[in-house]
Amino acid sequence: MSYDGMTNPGRNDACWCGSGRKYKKCHEQFDQRLELLWSRGEEILPRSLYKTPADIEGIKASAAVNMGVLDYVGEHIQAGVSTMDINRWVEDYLAAHGAVSADLNFEGYPYSVCTSINDVVCHGFPNEKDVLKDGDIINVDMSTIKDGYFSDSSRMYCIGDVDPEWRRLVDTCKASVEAGLAAVRPWHRLGEMGDAVHRVNAEAGFSVVEVYGGHGIGKEFHEDPFVSFVSEPDEGPIMVPGMCFTIEPMVNMGGPDITTDKDNGWIVRTADHTPSAQWEVQLVVTETGYELLSW
Ligand code: MF3
Ligand code: CO
Repeated sequence: MSYDGMTNPGRNDACWCGSGRKYKKCHEQFDQRLELLWSRGEEILPRSLYKTPADIEGIKASAAVNMGVLDYVGEHIQAGVSTMDINRWVEDYLAAHGAVSADLNFEGYPYSVCTSINDVVCHGFPNEKDVLKDGDIINVDMSTIKDGYFSDSSRMYCIGDVDPEWRRLVDTCKASVEAGLAAVRPWHRLGEMGDAVHRVNAEAGFSVVEVYGGHGIGKEFHEDPFVSFVSEPDEGPIMVPGMCFTIEPMVNMGGPDITTDKDNGWIVRTADHTPSAQWEVQLVVTETGYELLSW
C-alpha cells in the first residue's frame, strides 16, 4: 500500500495529477519520497491535496479578488461605518468581479464576510447596529470562490486613535504570522511553523486560541490539515511542495479561553472580554520555501 492508500499508476501510464505526462516523468519520484517518509512513521497528506501549477493559477485568480476586497475595505473603513456597510461593499465587489463569498451559507453562516470587533475573536456577524468608533480594532475575514477555487485571508484595521497596548496586540499577531511564514520549509514538519507563531505571541505576553486554527484550502474551503498555532516542532504532517494552507492565529490580550454566542452559535468572544487580534494569509509550499497566495 502507498502512503495514502492509492495505487500508483504504471511507470509509462499517465500521471495521477492530470498533467498528461507519463508517471515516470512526473510524480514518480515525488511519490517515492513521500513513501519513504511515511514508512518512517511521518504523517503524510494524501496526493489529492497537493496543488498542481494549474490549481495554483486558479487560486491566484481567486485571491486577486479576495485581496481586492480587503484593499477596498482598507480604503473606506473609518469611524461611523457599520459592519453591515462592509458586508454590502463585499457583495458589490464580488459581484463586479465574477466571484462569490465562500462564507455565505458555509455550514449555515448567514453573511458574506466575518467582521470581528475588539473582544470578538472570530465569526463576527455584520450588523447595522455595530458602528465603528474611534479606538476600535476590527478583523475583516474574507473568503472567495472564483471558478471553483478558494482563497482566504484576513486583516486587522485600527480605527482612529487605538490604545498602544491594543496596537501592540495587533502588531504582535502580524509579526507572529511572519515568523510562521519564515518557518515554512519543505520536508519539515508543520508543527515547526505553529511553534514559531506561538513563540512570538507568548514572548509578548499574549495567548493563542487553541481550538481554532488554519486549514488546507484550494478546491474546498477547509481541507486537511488542521493547522495549529499551539504545536510542538516535532508534531504534524510534513510540509510537502504543493501543499496549500492558511496561517491565521487568533491572539488574545488576556487568557486563551473563548465563548460561543448561544443565540446564534457563531460569534466567538474572549471569555475575559479582553481584545483579540487575527491576521490570515494563504500560501503554497514550494521546493525552496513558500509562495504567498492571499494576504
Ligand atoms: N474565513 C474563516 C477562515 O479563515 C472561516 C469563516 S467560516 C464562516 O477559515 F462560515 F464563518 F464564514
Ligand atoms: Co481561513
